[in-house]
Amino acid sequence: MLVSTEQLLKQARQDSYAVGAFNVYTLEGVRAVVSAAEQVHSPAILQVLPSALELVGTALIACCLEAARQAAVPMSVHLDHCRSPTTITGALNAGISSIMADGSQLPFARNMDFTRRMAALAISMQRTVEAELGCLSGTEDGITVADRKARLTDPDQATDFVDHTGVHALAVCIGNVHGRYHSPPELDFDRLAAIADRVSIPLVLHGTSGLPDAMITRAVSMGVAKFNVNTELRDAGIAAGGRYMRLSEKPELVDRMQTEIEAMKHPVIAKLVLFGSAGKAP
Ligand code: 13P
Repeated sequence: MLVSTEQLLKQARQDSYAVGAFNVYTLEGVRAVVSAAEQVHSPAILQVLPSALELVGTALIACCLEAARQAAVPMSVHLDHCRSPTTITGALNAGISSIMADGSQLPFARNMDFTRRMAALAISMQRTVEAELGCLSGTEDGITVADRKARLTDPDQATDFVDHTGVHALAVCIGNVHGRYHSPPELDFDRLAAIADRVSIPLVLHGTSGLPDAMITRAVSMGVAKFNVNTELRDAGIAAGGRYMRLSEKPELVDRMQTEIEAMKHPVIAKLVLFGSAGKAP
């Protein structure tokens, strides 16, 4: 069933678990996430990136919304990392449940201004808004320790940011990175505690692929209610599809689709169990 992202996050926060938001690009990805969530009776979020929308248009949102409506578990559809007001407006008009207004590359005041404008628009349409304070790196390579620290979320700015923008969820930067971790991940849990102390809305952690299980469960216990997962399921699907094409003497597209769906389901199920959301769907 299709529900609001705010409802999913509130419930998670209240019952001390987190919701997984999984980036999907294709129907196989959508099917893998829905089927994994149904298998372990978990709520989940289907998440789309602006780059995928650019390629295939808002039909991807329509596909996710319909899959969420048909699902036996509560689900919503979220626009991930969007800096473009035009894309945000298009996604909202296409019926998306929630958006991430991403002004994290901007200086604090401009991030706040951009986020406030996008939040006002989304809220006027009864949708949920996530924003980011601090700036997540794509990789740790080439970033000095001082640079890295400057990009982390400042707990003292977090209260102002949330109060002035009206967002429902805040993505924090505490040493998490998108994509692969090239050295063992180091999350600044003291910083997370300081943010959680000052901010009462659900917190979001991006860059979940590759984070050790213990860090994830600790983050949940400290108020993280949404985890974004992309690399692990995308890589699983690509690898399985490639293997199928190499090994099959007479490849069939529908068999390749099935192989990819099964391969992507595994990491999704593992994450839903880890986040504590398995078994939480009514
Ligand atoms: P990973 O690719 O590291 O899982 O990060 C996903 C993400 O944060 C998307 O917003």
